[in-house]
Amino acid sequence: MERTLILLKPDCVQRRLAGRVIARFEEKGLNLIAMKMMRVTPELAKRHYAEHVAKGWYPSLEAFITAGPIVALIVEGPEAIRVVREMVGATNSRNAAQGTIRGDHGMSRQMNLVHASDGPEAAQREMQIFFHPEELCEFTPTLQPWLLAEDE
Ligand code: CDP
Ligand code: MG
Repeated sequence: MERTLILLKPDCVQRRLAGRVIARFEEKGLNLIAMKMMRVTPELAKRHYAEHVAKGWYPSLEAFITAGPIVALIVEGPEAIRVVREMVGATNSRNAAQGTIRGDHGMSRQMNLVHASDGPEAAQREMQIFFHPEELCEFTPTLQPWLLAEDE
């Protein structure tokens, strides 16, 4: 089982797509185990996007990600990190495949609706940035036997 961090970025919330995007993760069969609405501060943006802070486009990214509320989620499932990245699609929404969240709902490279952790180390780091351990609500869905075989 893997866990990964998802952020519904300010454009997703402002465009009233949050519910539909969350539904895609639920319908896929991922377990939703943490969720909250919040505002990203400039300090939090710099921590989360540490790898991008030195880039020329970072100030514009920070202005965007702090401009309105976001929804932060943790989902769980086998190979969840890769599966969620593939559901989200390529960074530039104009290049993202149809059927992905960015491909279906976006035209922008920056306003691309969703963030998803890109590997196990990023997932661990990012989940800790956005959630305290006590905010995670682990549970076994009653549907579990119809979602995965026992040996998966
Ligand atoms: O989010 P993802 O991992 O696909 O892309 P990234 O290369 O790690 O970039 C992080 C975020 O910065 C993107 O999702 C865009 O919102 C934003 N970005 C931007 O504003 N301008 C760029 N030239 C590249 C990325
Ligand atoms: Mg990235």
